[in-house]
Amino acid sequence: MQKLKIEGGGRLSGELEIQGAKNSVLPLLSACVLVNGEVRLKRCPSLSDVYSAMRILSSLGCKCRRSAAGEVYIDTRGLESTAVSDSLMRQMRSSIIFLGALLGRAGECTLSFPGGCELGPRPIDLHLSALRQLGAKITEEHGALICRSANGLRGTQIDLSFPSVGATENIMLAAVCAKGETVISNAAREPEICDLADFLNLCGAKIRGAGSQRIVVEGVPRENLHGCEFEVMPDRIAAVTYMCAAAATGGEVSLHGARMGDIEAVVNLLRQAGCRICACGDGVCLAANGRLKAVRTVRTQPYPGFPTDAQAIVMACMAKARGTGIFVEEIFENRFRHVDELTRMGADIKTEGRVAVVSGVERLYGASVSAPDLRGGAALCVAAAAAEGVSEIANVELIDRGYESIEKALCALGAKAERE
Ligand code: EPZ
Repeated sequence: MQKLKIEGGGRLSGELEIQGAKNSVLPLLSACVLVNGEVRLKRCPSLSDVYSAMRILSSLGCKCRRSAAGEVYIDTRGLESTAVSDSLMRQMRSSIIFLGALLGRAGECTLSFPGGCELGPRPIDLHLSALRQLGAKITEEHGALICRSANGLRGTQIDLSFPSVGATENIMLAAVCAKGETVISNAAREPEICDLADFLNLCGAKIRGAGSQRIVVEGVPRENLHGCEFEVMPDRIAAVTYMCAAAATGGEVSLHGARMGDIEAVVNLLRQAGCRICACGDGVCLAANGRLKAVRTVRTQPYPGFPTDAQAIVMACMAKARGTGIFVEEIFENRFRHVDELTRMGADIKTEGRVAVVSGVERLYGASVSAPDLRGGAALCVAAAAAEGVSEIANVELIDRGYESIEKALCALGAKAERE
């Protein structure tokens, strides 16, 4: 089991190129299944979740190859299976996103029920009810989902009770080749939804309204779809992570490729905490200005609200702020598992259900901690950079799911970080 060793105490300053977005490239890789051709994805991040998705594509009969320059090449002309194995499903729960694409491509799909994860149960009821409204017959047998659409899928009006990112993506994928028009109301508005719509439209789909609460997909014949070359959007949560590392250590960063429009809710919070942030050149620049000031309440919301994926990372950044702040996690039921680990480093955080009260402390101390999940692990890296002394962070493989070598990125900003 690998671990990171980070010696904190220094100001983090410098510049970084932001990696491609994990939460965009995963749905894009499954969307390739819809196209009977060749796709080239640029700025594809080197992440364990990406390799898991590529293994699924290979298991279905597609050819996948990654170039050194971060390009991934997918050829789906050899696709011959529509079943995703249980072992591959367990490697990455978000592989449920292959459901809509395989139904759209082949009219059938068999995959096992994705388990819960560190964040708590990850239900897929919204996915299944929407796909059934499109005409899919879905049965559950011994933990496996058997999905069929013998007479093809038919466009319809789908009202989501919650703007689920994954459900919105699965509906878009299934609706691309459905007969007629599909309207998704209360759709997720995350930037990754727009990236998926841009990719699908480049492949010949007809999708409009992505980024708004109402997305309209006009079904097209499957043979109209073709391959394309597409650049994955920058990872907005990776950008927030390195901004917080600089803010927590009184430093300054220039993040090439970061898009201000994707991270406004976090930018507003860090500005209230005392940071100077602006769009600069091809990215975003942040300069901290001494000790941060606590922000009264941080409440996670669907986009464009404060992103749940930034909650742990910003909490770590605010652990040394002057004053007390309240964090309310509205999206997931178990997303405070980083709190115990931050407390071991000297943070003063009390949780009650979905509320965490963070009383800023003067200093944090290096400690042996363990990443509880992907973003909690990133939060511990931020705290370790701001702590006095050396921290050891175990379960690095959870961090590697979403960050391309987080220790190299931190070192590029002047941190003393290494992988053991
Ligand atoms: C995506 O997960 C992201 N993952 C998550 O990022 C992110 O936290 C989440 O969206 C919210 O922004 C990827 O894109 C691969 P949801 P997803 O469906 O699609 C409930 C990270 O760290 N729900 O919007 O699974 C669900 O339980 C990861 O990068 C249902 O009840 O998120 C949760 O409470 C973590 N029924 C809430 O909705 C459903 O059918 C949000 O889930 C689906 C979801």
